[in-house]
Amino acid sequence: MKRIAVFTSGGDAPGMNACIRAVVRACVHFNVEIYGIHGGYQGMIENNIRPMTTNSVANIIQYGGTILKTARSKDFMTPKGRKIAYDNLKHHNIDGLVCIGGNGTYTGAMTFEQEFGIPSIGCPGTIDNDLFGTDYTIGYDTAINTAVDAIDKIRDTADAHNRVFFIEVMGRHSGHIALYAGIAGGAEGIFIPEKEHEFEDVCKIYEKKSRTKQFSIFVVAEGETDGHAFDIAKRFQEKFPDTDSRVTVLGHIQRGGKPSANDRILASRLGAHAVKALLEGKRNMAVGVINNEVSFTPFETAIFHKKSINENLWIMNDIITS
Ligand code: F6P
Repeated sequence: MKRIAVFTSGGDAPGMNACIRAVVRACVHFNVEIYGIHGGYQGMIENNIRPMTTNSVANIIQYGGTILKTARSKDFMTPKGRKIAYDNLKHHNIDGLVCIGGNGTYTGAMTFEQEFGIPSIGCPGTIDNDLFGTDYTIGYDTAINTAVDAIDKIRDTADAHNRVFFIEVMGRHSGHIALYAGIAGGAEGIFIPEKEHEFEDVCKIYEKKSRTKQFSIFVVAEGETDGHAFDIAKRFQEKFPDTDSRVTVLGHIQRGGKPSANDRILASRLGAHAVKALLEGKRNMAVGVINNEVSFTPFETAIFHKKSINENLWIMNDIITS
């Protein structure tokens, strides 16, 4: 393998830059040429492919976002788009890919490999932490710290007004962010799609509590099956008309900002191992960290297996909040 290309795809996540940096620096170390594809799969189709050097990634480890930009490409979902992308890669003599992103990114890489035989290694880059084959994804640690910082601030005003707050955090189909941010933020209740009957449970706890503390914080995952934070807050207000409730949707603030030290280390580790893996002949796999050891999972497994939430944490939180 003489020439590798790296790209970011799907929702950006803090630490993607650290991962790009590690990929580029590892390629330089192993004497492999490295190209950057700008704008994810869409950039591959639009031939937005340029050589990178060690200097291209100087002074980026501390920044959120991605210097290579990202996109959710509809064109790449079509055979025609993928053929154009393949022709562009061949034009640049690219032999292998490192893709940084989530489930959709892995699906694109797997399909591409099946159709055109281009080997890929995927690095898990998503704040949602919803990828099977790794304990943590790049961006998750920063996102939960951002959410906890926001919860702490909301707690001040909730306390001052004796209000009940429903705080919605990201997680399109998963409750990993809500669970961690909820526990670390001291929430009285957490709503996640992996669990049922949280509303009833929360109401029971709320009813039986001797209200020495007048305010409450509830954290709701964006993907909660009972509805969004606004829906749940409405039901709660109807059930407890004397409460004064408010909703805050944290939204994309969770995707930005300086990556945490943990995310920078994870991203560096996974980026470097992705390159090493390609050079050792691995393909069609996602790199991850399980029990603090680097491990590889076939794309097919990473894509189709759902990563469960940490049950022990859920049980522990039940004990300390009820
Ligand atoms: O997958 C990461 C994520 O931030 C999800 O938590 C969220 O549902 C989604 O991306 C939002 O995507 P977009 O920025 O395209 O609206």
